[in-house]
Amino acid sequence: MKKTATILGIFICLFSTAQTNKKQISIIPEPVSLKQGVGNFTLPSSVIIEASSPNEMKQSIDVLTERLTNAAGKKVSIKNNAPEASIRLVLSVKQEGSLGKEGYHLSVVSDNITITAEQPAGLFYGVQTLLQLLPKEIESKTTLSNIKWEIPIIEIMDKPRFGWRGLMFDVARHFFTKADVKLFIDDMVRYKYNLLHLHLTDDEGWRIEIKGLPKLTEVGAWNVKKIGNFGTFSVPTPDEPRDFGGFYTQEDIKELVKYAKDRFVDILPEIDVPGHSLAAVVSYPELSCTPEANTYRVRSGEEIMDWSHGAPPIALVDNTLCPANEKVYEFLDKVMTQVAQLFPFEYIHVGGDECPKNYWEKTAAIKELMQKEGLKNMEEVQSYFEKRLEKIVESKGKKFMGWDEILEGGLAPSAAVMSWRGMKGGIEAAKMKHDVVMSPTTHAYIDYMQGDPIIEPKIYASLRLNKSYEFEPLPDGVDAKYIKGGQANLWSEQVYNMRHAQYMTWPRGFAIAEALWSPKNKRNWNYFFSKVEDHFERFDVADKKYAPSVYDPIFTAGLTADKQLKIELGKEVEALDIYYSFDNSFPDRFYPKYTVALIPPKDATTLKVITYKGNKPVGRMIAMPIAELKSRVEKKK
Ligand code: ACM
Repeated sequence: MKKTATILGIFICLFSTAQTNKKQISIIPEPVSLKQGVGNFTLPSSVIIEASSPNEMKQSIDVLTERLTNAAGKKVSIKNNAPEASIRLVLSVKQEGSLGKEGYHLSVVSDNITITAEQPAGLFYGVQTLLQLLPKEIESKTTLSNIKWEIPIIEIMDKPRFGWRGLMFDVARHFFTKADVKLFIDDMVRYKYNLLHLHLTDDEGWRIEIKGLPKLTEVGAWNVKKIGNFGTFSVPTPDEPRDFGGFYTQEDIKELVKYAKDRFVDILPEIDVPGHSLAAVVSYPELSCTPEANTYRVRSGEEIMDWSHGAPPIALVDNTLCPANEKVYEFLDKVMTQVAQLFPFEYIHVGGDECPKNYWEKTAAIKELMQKEGLKNMEEVQSYFEKRLEKIVESKGKKFMGWDEILEGGLAPSAAVMSWRGMKGGIEAAKMKHDVVMSPTTHAYIDYMQGDPIIEPKIYASLRLNKSYEFEPLPDGVDAKYIKGGQANLWSEQVYNMRHAQYMTWPRGFAIAEALWSPKNKRNWNYFFSKVEDHFERFDVADKKYAPSVYDPIFTAGLTADKQLKIELGKEVEALDIYYSFDNSFPDRFYPKYTVALIPPKDATTLKVITYKGNKPVGRMIAMPIAELKSRVEKKK
């Protein structure tokens, strides 16, 4: 008995050593199935990649070769038939049968790696997973020595839950160059996103060359550079130069489409009409219902809408196209003809959101149109416009998609709906048998602040990482066949550069990627967050930016029974300690640790906090004025 117990003890000890030797696997998005073995495969100094059909596998070969050469310093060769290969890429329908267009099987054994897929996209995603299995130094821009290039022994079978896995990039509010967009694509494919929605037109800029309509880009693409709090900027004076902005030529668009396609990304173009159209109206004032449109200028972030009465907003300048004007449809026909030719993707997104109606209400031509067409209200006027636009889009061989406002006043017969004001519009459209993409503000608006407004760049709403992680694109009771997938939207009013675009996109982009790719039953916040931390380290190696806001506390201000200010500090992640001071000095882990609600000393003016994980500071030093917390209590009343 004793002997048996000893042997059992040794066995348990050996087994647990083997277990603890296993490095955590941190793949985002989480694969469908993953079985980790014991031990590793180590890459040799010369890596042979066996690729039986190199042309079809080009993208996967390129990504692997680039990383293995530049970061790991390996000599890489590609061979057709090489039993000695370290990495084998296999395209085979027969072998798997159920991986679909984007699925893959990845097998790492003690002396080689095999990625099998039915289609090139699947291989590409298998390669992305393989890169995430390699040490984080594989993300380095320079070659690193002294790294053990080990990959854990593992079997992975993987394929996506949804076919539409999108990120929207608003290149209209602030222009982002062709190189920026390529960088955005590079980042998104690492997390298996396959759709880039480019918001190409808005009040602040028209970003795509349309032949025969030169003013769209000569005039409509330029405004005055203002820095600060977008939406509250001073009205530009006539002497301020209008040289801020830019646009993509048609050659640029072709280059971007190809760049995306080479990485299995489709580009969805959005031409946002009839609202959000000031750049077009300024370029061609005859498209407006309002005669004084010829005095307007492209918006530079000054106030142009009054939102105090809710949606739709009241426009202070008429930023709409006129549905009662035949020239508008001729204009849109020209635009859609060229957009359809430039973007091979099956859909064109035509916006339709937040269209103010107050200028239409006072336009005689709109009243005549209503009489002639039997339209009862302004929503039906917009619906009339959308139905005509749907016909134009379809006449170019494309499918029609818009934001969920296009449901109001009657949905165009074949329209697909992108649901942003929550899931409601998407559910309604799916019940009417229309295709839907879910991108609700509640979970997928990555322009929102991801931490406390005292430290984040100001936007009117917040969305923390743990809430994004709860995104479920398929609501109960809805036929799954109408929910094509979902996307996160990066509006760029407050995004002035690429570093900040990265900060806003990651880590919430990780959460949305899991919602769109991984099986629903694989969701687990604590495990997900441990992976996020590993990916933060990868971003550090890659010199990419991300938001550490998830580490910062959640401030809740309230009152005690005797009306004193009471401050609670919440956490998104359990394993953190918050240290604080009221004496204006900078807290560290030798300061008081937060455990229960705080009552500030009578004369304190500032609460300073910082979050630690063990003995490492992970959050940012936040200075919260007591007066700010008091005003939050007042606002709640
Ligand atoms: C939107 O956020 N206005 C679609």
